Amino acid sequence: MPVKKAIIPAAGLGTRFLPATKASPKEMLTIVDKPAIQYVTEEAVNAGLKSILIVTGRGKEAIENHFDVSYELERFLEEKGKYKEVELVRNIAEMAEVYYVRQKEALGLGHAVLCAKSWAREDPFAVFLGDDIIFSRKPCISQMMEIFEEKKCSVLGVIEIDKNETSKYGIIEGVEVNGQLIEVKDIVEKPDPKDAPSSTAVIGRYLFTPGIMRELEQTKPGVGGEIQLTDAIRSLLKNEKVYAYRFEGKRYDIGDKLGFLEATVELALEREDLKDAFREYLNKLMAVKD
Ligand code: G1P
Repeated sequence: MPVKKAIIPAAGLGTRFLPATKASPKEMLTIVDKPAIQYVTEEAVNAGLKSILIVTGRGKEAIENHFDVSYELERFLEEKGKYKEVELVRNIAEMAEVYYVRQKEALGLGHAVLCAKSWAREDPFAVFLGDDIIFSRKPCISQMMEIFEEKKCSVLGVIEIDKNETSKYGIIEGVEVNGQLIEVKDIVEKPDPKDAPSSTAVIGRYLFTPGIMRELEQTKPGVGGEIQLTDAIRSLLKNEKVYAYRFEGKRYDIGDKLGFLEATVELALEREDLKDAFREYLNKLMAVKD
């Protein structure tokens, strides 16, 4: 069955990005001129996933407003003859069918995904973590969907990391099928480098068979006292095959301040309307610094 649904957990408190996230959702942090959550939503939509459930929490109303119609703004822009802006604003409200569910307590990523159970029903679905923004020619999730359709198994997006960073990620142990595809044999959440089975890390792109929800229902709190998605994947491995895919593209961890700055600079340098002036500015700045 083809994947049509996407879940975007967005209930996290964004403690890595204080003070910006004290009163504003981290998902609304802006890269150039677009909030982070719009980039991941666009990746989903570009891959044909138009039914999107955002798992929110208290204080996240700005996300709902962003994907809603904004009559006052549209009317104001129309009166000023700013039709391009009207279209830009309207397109956001029309790009997908967006649903919301609240995670009432911060019980972990696995719990956030489980909050989507009755919405997902028995359908396969994608999970996008908004901290991971991926720039690629073909959407990362579309690359993974090809594997999902071929293997009819869950697929995890992975990258190679420095061994000393394993305690930030879910780390897999697996058997290489080819340079990009790995059959997962085990997965562990945030191991110390000395205990990590590899340096192949899961980033925020997942495709799941409905079986993951049954595993999540049984999953007890793990690392950090939270219900971990990684632990549910580990249980899923007992019943189903799971693959990991080294996608083509560049991933930015925008939940991290340096990753956020890198994404901002690189994306601005890709933008037709900004790249020349911005490059000139950066060159001048670097000349002064040297
Ligand atoms: C989560 C997952 C982790 C994964 C990471 C990717 O961790 O628990 O397995 O590797 O996302 O970004 P978090 O970054 O939410 O702590």
